[in-house]
Amino acid sequence: MKNLFFYLLLFPSFLFSQNISQSNDIAYHQKMEWFKEAKLGIFIHWGIYAVNGISESWAFYNRYISHEDYLKQTAGFTATNYDPDYWARMIKESGAKYSVITTKHHDGFALWDTEYGDLNSLKSSPSKRDLITPFVEALRKNDLKVGLYYSLPDWSYKDYTHHTNNFQRYKIQDDPDRWDRFQSYNFGQLEELKNNFSPDLWWFDGDWEHSAEEWNVKKIKSLLTHKQTGVIFNSRLNEQGDYATPEIGLPIHKPEADYWELCMTMNDSWGFQHNDKKYKSPQQVLDIFVDVLSKGGNLLLDIGPKADGTIPKEQENILKELGKWTSKHSEAIYQVEAGIPYECFMGPTALSQDSTTLYLYVRDIPKDGKVVLKGVENKINRVWVVGHGTILDQEVFCKVYWSKYPGLTYIEIPENTLDPYYTVLAVLLDGKIKLYQD
Ligand code: GLC
Repeated sequence: MKNLFFYLLLFPSFLFSQNISQSNDIAYHQKMEWFKEAKLGIFIHWGIYAVNGISESWAFYNRYISHEDYLKQTAGFTATNYDPDYWARMIKESGAKYSVITTKHHDGFALWDTEYGDLNSLKSSPSKRDLITPFVEALRKNDLKVGLYYSLPDWSYKDYTHHTNNFQRYKIQDDPDRWDRFQSYNFGQLEELKNNFSPDLWWFDGDWEHSAEEWNVKKIKSLLTHKQTGVIFNSRLNEQGDYATPEIGLPIHKPEADYWELCMTMNDSWGFQHNDKKYKSPQQVLDIFVDVLSKGGNLLLDIGPKADGTIPKEQENILKELGKWTSKHSEAIYQVEAGIPYECFMGPTALSQDSTTLYLYVRDIPKDGKVVLKGVENKINRVWVVGHGTILDQEVFCKVYWSKYPGLTYIEIPENTLDPYYTVLAVLLDGKIKLYQD
């Protein structure tokens, strides 16, 4: 016990070295800098599942369709209208700073030129080409960071343990050599991806099927960080990642991790599904994005292109509408940190990195047109409407000379400054924000 105490005094980061929350490691925070300021990323689920429009990989795993019929979709995966430059431009226009594309989902269909296996977009579908290289080039050309999604499980591969929810090919302890064969295949593919694309971020998935030791996570990380030390990992490497990865469930409270990213679908599907019309409106997507901003995270918003490579029009529309809002409000998006409690402002807020400007995201305007800010002790030097420029007055009530209580600050937002989605007010304080504690 004494030894542990001594160790903690010397190396407080030891406390957190095994998880993703609140590390004191400077190099770690430096490598996370671009990610922290990126705020918005676009996830892409593209694969043969877009042909029938069924759930990616899970359709055969859960036996809604046989594996054989699932694989028949390869015949319809044409990529005839695939325009990676257009994709990258759309992503850029949305205001995203990075993109993460499925190089291989759990079904094992690879989208790049791999020497390992035949199930890929060159050898087994009419697309007949490497689809990742031109996309990575287009992202780089547009100054966007490159993220590669890679599924650890490969339910189609003959030497992988799991196949469907009622059939497991073998157990590792019964046939370790077979598992080794799978491992060389998996490591081979990862090495190819690393050498070909030097991604900025690895987005792993499917770790739940085996332990960190079985996947050999340490070896994966040392392979992928060799001469690429700044690369970032999501947390789906049995928790050995750099940031937390909540999925679909928008956190209610600010997560404890220093860095986190919510991955989210636009409708209810990751890949393209003809029959899934349950799209969120651009307003609803922005509701989620602004909420994420107010809690200091990133949003990784998914699109699912069709089998011919076109982006469905509903998805394109969301990207465009997002772009209108992000380009107008960039000051209140990229360089901000989590905001103040809802007790102080009835809505999402964020703070500039130096904590001297408070951003108020206003969705619905109160009947009298006035929003109210409570509990901020600082003097307010100025308030303006972001992306519009109008300077606004404030009225302070309930402030008396004999108490430190900061009063209630009402700010009226004129109608002609309203944004169709979120109007953002910048509140410039006389120093770092101080919240009234009593
Ligand atoms: C899940 C699913 C998968 C999807 C992913 C995205 O873990 O297995 O189909 O690609 O989440 O976050």
